[in-house]
Amino acid sequence: MIDDLWYKNGVFYCLSVGTYMDANGDGVGDFKGLLRRLDYLHGLGVTAIWLMPFQPSPGKDDGYDISDYYGVDPRYGTLGDFVEFTHGCRQRGIRVIIDLVVNHTSDAHAWFRSARSSPDSQHRDWYVWADKRPASASKGMAFPGVQKSTWTYDKEAKAWYFHRFYDFQPDLNTSNPYVQAEILKIMGFWIQLGVSGFRMDAVPFVIATKGAKVKTPVEQYGMLRSLREFLQWRHGNAIILAEANVLPEADMEYFGRDGDRMHMMFNFHVNQNLFYAMAATDARPLAKALAATKPRPASAQWGLFLRNHDELDLGRLTKAQRKVVFERFGPDKDMQLYDRGIRRRLAPMLGGDRRRLELAYSLMYTLPGTPVIRYGDEIGMGDNLALPERNCARTPMQWSMEPHGGFTKSDRPCLPVIDKGPYGYAHINVAKQRRNPNSMLNWTERIIRMRKEVPEIGWGDFRLIATRDPAILAMRYDWRNNSVLFVHNLAEMPREASFSVGLAGDAGKNLINLLSEDHSEAGERDKHSVMLEPYGYRWYRVGGLDYLLTRSDIDGVNGNHPE
Ligand code: NOJ
Repeated sequence: MIDDLWYKNGVFYCLSVGTYMDANGDGVGDFKGLLRRLDYLHGLGVTAIWLMPFQPSPGKDDGYDISDYYGVDPRYGTLGDFVEFTHGCRQRGIRVIIDLVVNHTSDAHAWFRSARSSPDSQHRDWYVWADKRPASASKGMAFPGVQKSTWTYDKEAKAWYFHRFYDFQPDLNTSNPYVQAEILKIMGFWIQLGVSGFRMDAVPFVIATKGAKVKTPVEQYGMLRSLREFLQWRHGNAIILAEANVLPEADMEYFGRDGDRMHMMFNFHVNQNLFYAMAATDARPLAKALAATKPRPASAQWGLFLRNHDELDLGRLTKAQRKVVFERFGPDKDMQLYDRGIRRRLAPMLGGDRRRLELAYSLMYTLPGTPVIRYGDEIGMGDNLALPERNCARTPMQWSMEPHGGFTKSDRPCLPVIDKGPYGYAHINVAKQRRNPNSMLNWTERIIRMRKEVPEIGWGDFRLIATRDPAILAMRYDWRNNSVLFVHNLAEMPREASFSVGLAGDAGKNLINLLSEDHSEAGERDKHSVMLEPYGYRWYRVGGLDYLLTRSDIDGVNGNHPE
């Protein structure tokens, strides 16, 4: 495998323009502000920015209700500002991927307005209609508890329209070839303006069959290949990162057995099991999830995340497992959402405990895939549960001690900056943490640097290392004649981890700690014994620091000879 597939081994940073930095002083973040913060992101070391939707939108679902795919919402700037931004990223070697939200449009989109106006409209068949209320109308809601139905009667159209999400997000009829052609055109447009790919929203729903008569939607996986083909012709190294919360059995359908569909997918399966593992102090379900999601084409990659802008979706855990996670990380009803998840940010979920935060991030940075961090997590930002639904975890970035955390000079920020309690901007902000060598920010910068020095994770093969202690997760990666090994203690008690590296001969005798002077030498029967503090973690390079001299130029060479 050629090792220039940039997405396989990077660090992604997700942000939304509107809450990042307001340069023009109207209370809403904008591209000019973001451009001024690029040096911060460059300094942090991220390799790609994932921009959440910024196109014109009524903003009823934080921009996931787009009313024009070919523009920039005027609150955020102009297309000119956008291109300055992608150019600024390119200058700094940072890639940009943007959301591709084509399962649905806003009901304010001109296509929908035309579609509803007449059965003869050329856009009528761009959406999904029914004359009578379909029997399935009260099933399949994406936001249970808040969204009441998946079909709504439109007075103007005198017909019912389908919406997997909120009623102001009518589903596009993605089986319609004209809609499919338009989706490609949208991709082509943004590619031309300098983006390197897309985070594709709600992929299982985009490719599902839709309609009043559809009892069980069927995924039309072939569509994924068409998207990829188009993209690859337009821009050789552009990618699609799919948001698809599916079971491991379906992974290969999304990646394509020949690696001809999605380049990347978020690993929701590992995400849920990771939170369960932390809540239950039991690494075994996580190990199982890692094994279940291990098979993937060589050119494909997982996006590894802890929290994103949505709720932490625990829907695929068992009821008993979900209960454990709720009890530990989101015990109040107010912290839970859609009967399946937790809406808090990570720092408050983990009690602001630095040891637990480092453990969680250390896992995210060392599990197989490309880590995706969310803005503000690098400083341990909190949430504001007084805000509705998922908005609680979407508050503006906290830059400094200045009013509104330095996010805006306006008196009326689009969303309130957190200003009270331990997560208020007076305590948690970039300026303060930049100066403090022991801050979360500087820890994050350091761990990103180290992650970049360990390409074995992105490129290599992993195996789980047995330790007999369910609270310990140990894994080793091998790539081009080099190996690295990671040990994590999920318990709040110190644990002694005892394990064999699993390499033949003397190869696994010495483990060089990448983060401190605390190295490990194998004892009797080649066993290592490592004393881990509560929530402790270790990043080791196997063998000596001359690893670059022994690295092979090609894959499949492991002088380390795994047993
Ligand atoms: C998934 C996005 O992550 C979420 O924020 C949004 O509400 C839905 N898709 C609908 O677009």
